[in-house]
Amino acid sequence: MNKKYNVGIIGCTGMVGQRFMLLLENHPWFHVTALAASGRSAGKPYHEAIQGRWFMPEAVPAAMNDMKIYDAEKDIDEIVSKVDFVFCAVNMGKDEIKKLETAYAKAECPVVSNNSAFRGTDDVPMIIPEINADHTDVIEAQRKRLGTKRGFISVKCNCSLQSYVPALHPLMDLGVTKALACTYQAISGAGKTFETYPEIVDNVIPFIGGEEEKSEQEPLKIWGKVVDGKIVNATSPNITAQCFRVPVADGHMAAVFMSLENKISKEEIIERWKNFKGPAQELELPSAPKNFLHYFEEENRPQTRLDRNLENGMAVSIGRLRADSQYDYKFVCMAHNTLRGAAGGAVLMAELLCKKGFFD
Ligand SMILES: NC(=O)c1ccc[n+]([C@@H]2O[C@H](COP(=O)([O-])OP(=O)(O)OC[C@H]3O[C@@H](n4cnc5c(N)ncnc54)[C@H](OP(=O)(O)O)[C@@H]3O)[C@@H](O)[C@H]2O)c1
Repeated sequence: MNKKYNVGIIGCTGMVGQRFMLLLENHPWFHVTALAASGRSAGKPYHEAIQGRWFMPEAVPAAMNDMKIYDAEKDIDEIVSKVDFVFCAVNMGKDEIKKLETAYAKAECPVVSNNSAFRGTDDVPMIIPEINADHTDVIEAQRKRLGTKRGFISVKCNCSLQSYVPALHPLMDLGVTKALACTYQAISGAGKTFETYPEIVDNVIPFIGGEEEKSEQEPLKIWGKVVDGKIVNATSPNITAQCFRVPVADGHMAAVFMSLENKISKEEIIERWKNFKGPAQELELPSAPKNFLHYFEEENRPQTRLDRNLENGMAVSIGRLRADSQYDYKFVCMAHNTLRGAAGGAVLMAELLCKKGFFD
């Protein structure tokens, strides 16, 4: 790609926003030209706004250290004049997020969002580029609804399902009838660190508000079909989930049980995982992992600390596939929640949209 696209990060001071800063520092297609957050940070240079709350192991990218932060709600016109599209990851109420993202889209600025507000809207694509890249087909209908030529919203799915939906996907043609997932989710998923979340040390919290509903329902949209400008959700598999917060910095693990209509052997399932490729790999998108799904033969893998950064945190790790006495099979899988599960997944989605010409 010869042209570089100018990008804004809305929510640049947050946990996901900080990941965006690092992922976009040397991106081959995207160049950060605007940073925005709440009125609390607006007007400050970036380094001042994040004083005492920069959570990444790497330093703030030098080129962004002194950039002035805009007010995401009040400075929309100025931000939009500087960018080709924005990433958005903000901690606000659902209605406020809907208002904010719609305002950017209506100002003819495409929005690639990590927020959940529009995930249930049937003309808003929720894309994992290896799985449902064709859902970009609804964008035209969405633009018609919004009355825009360029502006639209696309969303990233919830981070909890980022490991087990990819693992189940290459088996879907066999008829995955039901799946049970118990997730063990890292504290960065709540925008927290061990310093800011001391109550998680030596503890497991068996509740994450709204997470189980998202874990059960969002996969059906991802596996849905585009019909007349809308995504019609899949009706199977029947998914049930329990989501726990565990004392881990990064990386969401899932223990999964599944049943198949047409049975295949353990070896055939592992072969399917190892050979799986999707449009992200075929289009050679810059952030796509070479192998989306990695199967570990070792009994004690994947482990969050050892495996979350596999392929720059963009791959999904799977292990421990074996027969189950109640379901057909059970296995374990894991993905980095703020990379593949949030900012990295959003950058990959933006690369897909860019390659398909949606930012031109
Ligand atoms: N963390 C994850 O792993 C993860 C994964 C998937 C999706 N998400 C989603 O991503 C979003 C952000 O999550 P996070 O963990 O990054 O949250 P966070 O660390 O709490 O950061 C929130 C960001 O939102 C900004 N913000 C808050 N109120 C605002 C307002 N009124 N106007 C503009 N900006 C405002 C904050 O700016 P100030 O610093 O100025 O307050 C900050 O930049 C949430 O919707 C979350 O559900 C997170």
